[in-house]
Amino acid sequence: MNASLPTLAPAGTALLSNQVCMIIGAASPRGIGHATARLFAEHGAKIAVVDVAMDDAVREDIRKTIGDGLEANIIGVKCDIQNPVDCDRAVSEVLREFGGLDCMVNCAGLVRSQGMLSISEADYDLVLGVNLKGTFNICKSALNVFKEKGRGSIINLASVAAQRGGGLVGGAHYAASKGGVVSLTRTIAREFGPIGIRANVVCPSMIETSMLDGLSPERYREIVANVPLQRAGHPLDVAGACLFLASGLSAYVTGATIDVNGGSHIH
Ligand SMILES: NC(=O)c1ccc[n+]([C@@H]2O[C@H](COP(=O)([O-])OP(=O)(O)OC[C@H]3O[C@@H](n4cnc5c(N)ncnc54)[C@H](O)[C@@H]3O)[C@@H](O)[C@H]2O)c1
Repeated sequence: MNASLPTLAPAGTALLSNQVCMIIGAASPRGIGHATARLFAEHGAKIAVVDVAMDDAVREDIRKTIGDGLEANIIGVKCDIQNPVDCDRAVSEVLREFGGLDCMVNCAGLVRSQGMLSISEADYDLVLGVNLKGTFNICKSALNVFKEKGRGSIINLASVAAQRGGGLVGGAHYAASKGGVVSLTRTIAREFGPIGIRANVVCPSMIETSMLDGLSPERYREIVANVPLQRAGHPLDVAGACLFLASGLSAYVTGATIDVNGGSHIH
């Protein structure tokens, strides 16, 4: 009954001071991962940007766009999360560079807009392979480190598609993969909570990234008209939720699903 209250960050302090954060899927300058990496760097984190699309040009770009004007240490690591060996290697690289790992945010993913009957086995394997198996792989690699330390925080990106049954941008394979990400994250929260590890999932909807590029202007307007906040989301809207979940502000939050959808799916 007398458990002392955790110390929350006093106003004005960096929320992730010296925390090592690995952001997976942050190479795309318009993406959620990129905005999250930038916000985390502004809050004092050391950042490892991990992406299948990593090369020297991207490394240079993330140093300029994410690290610009900040003291933050930033590295770029190439990794295909479909491959468990690659995931272990990426985590080892982060440990070698920064000497630890405190938080992993998984924003890597891909979407395909297809009707159920036009989804081939190859389409299914690709979408499930990146979104669900990839999430499983990278979580496992991070958990091996977190388990040793008895602390760590995982934030996985799912989607409103997992909750409402697809229907906006992604097809059945996308919705199913994201439903799996929600279940996987909840299971991690239950299994690893007793040793001090937290795991939470974020479900965005209609965020202005390249994932929306395929939507016709009419369809875009139709969807936004039904959003109570009357706009699409910005990548920073999602980054803010990830910052809360990565920081000590959410010390007693695990197994949670945080909606970032402008009220478009209230349930
Ligand atoms: N944008 C939206 O409206 C929206 C809505 C709901 C959920 N989401 C989810 O949010 C996350 C981020 O989406 P985004 O809109 O920023 O997309 P994005 O395409 O901008 O970013 C995805 C990143 O993942 C990387 N990636 C893809 N496959 C990979 C692999 N095998 N290994 C490592 N990296 C890989 C890409 O190179 C890219 O940098 C995704 O999981 C997506 O499903 C997005």
